[in-house]
Amino acid sequence: MAGYISDDTRKVTTHRLIEMKERGEKISMLTSYDFTTAKIVDGAGIDVILVGDSASNVMAGNVTTLPITLDQMIYHGKSVVRAVNRAMVVVDMPFGSYQGNSKEGLASAIRIMKESHADALKLEGGEEILETVNRILCAGIPIMGHLGLMPQSINKYGTYTVRAKDEIEAEKLIRDAHLLEEAGCFGLVLEKIPANLAERVASELTIPVIGIGAGGKVDGQVLVIQDMLGMSQGFSPRFLRRYADLHTTMTNAIQQYVTDVKSSDFPNEKEQY
Ligand code: KIV
Repeated sequence: MAGYISDDTRKVTTHRLIEMKERGEKISMLTSYDFTTAKIVDGAGIDVILVGDSASNVMAGNVTTLPITLDQMIYHGKSVVRAVNRAMVVVDMPFGSYQGNSKEGLASAIRIMKESHADALKLEGGEEILETVNRILCAGIPIMGHLGLMPQSINKYGTYTVRAKDEIEAEKLIRDAHLLEEAGCFGLVLEKIPANLAERVASELTIPVIGIGAGGKVDGQVLVIQDMLGMSQGFSPRFLRRYADLHTTMTNAIQQYVTDVKSSDFPNEKEQY
């Protein structure tokens, strides 16, 4: 394991991610939404930290990603950026902050960059948001695209099932991926699509393609940290590998604390002034 943890402490940049793809080095990406977690994630050697709008679910307890606001994403972005030295920090543009009006999209993008000091933004969508993507890129703000299952469109889909299984949707996804690369996006997330489609997109594009539920033949992987650490319960998609059972670890520790407080075991003489 240690062999894969880089001792290179230089900041990860868009340029370095593209170099990683060129030499076949896989890119590791995880979400974080707060200072303490981001410090651990960065210190552990992750390449990219995504301040995902999944904060709406895992931090705020909403059913979808739609309710989270621009101000809330900026708050999470700022908290993460303060903790990070090496990883690239990408902030999700929240639902309603960029769809439709490209001028408003640019204004939202500038607010996130100015106020959070993030390194880049992620937007969901292809052709439909191309005008906004172009405007933001023209302002010198790096963009990571996001295609496949796009949780901000959940009300349109009506299901979180695998996307682009039929030819029409797969062809559109391939077209959108090329459009985003041609526009100048530095990377692309593909969520919950067939592995062979993701492999094709990753091989056709020169920019890194990061998968979540998109198989192993892409340039990197991303997971939501609460899911991979086993903090969340009742969410077990096939693509999720749990690396810890923090739900049990935390529950046991908290139950021990409750017991110690109630039995007057805590604090003891050494734990007081
Ligand atoms: O918001 C998020 O966490 C994401 C990942 C699932 C890619 O967009």
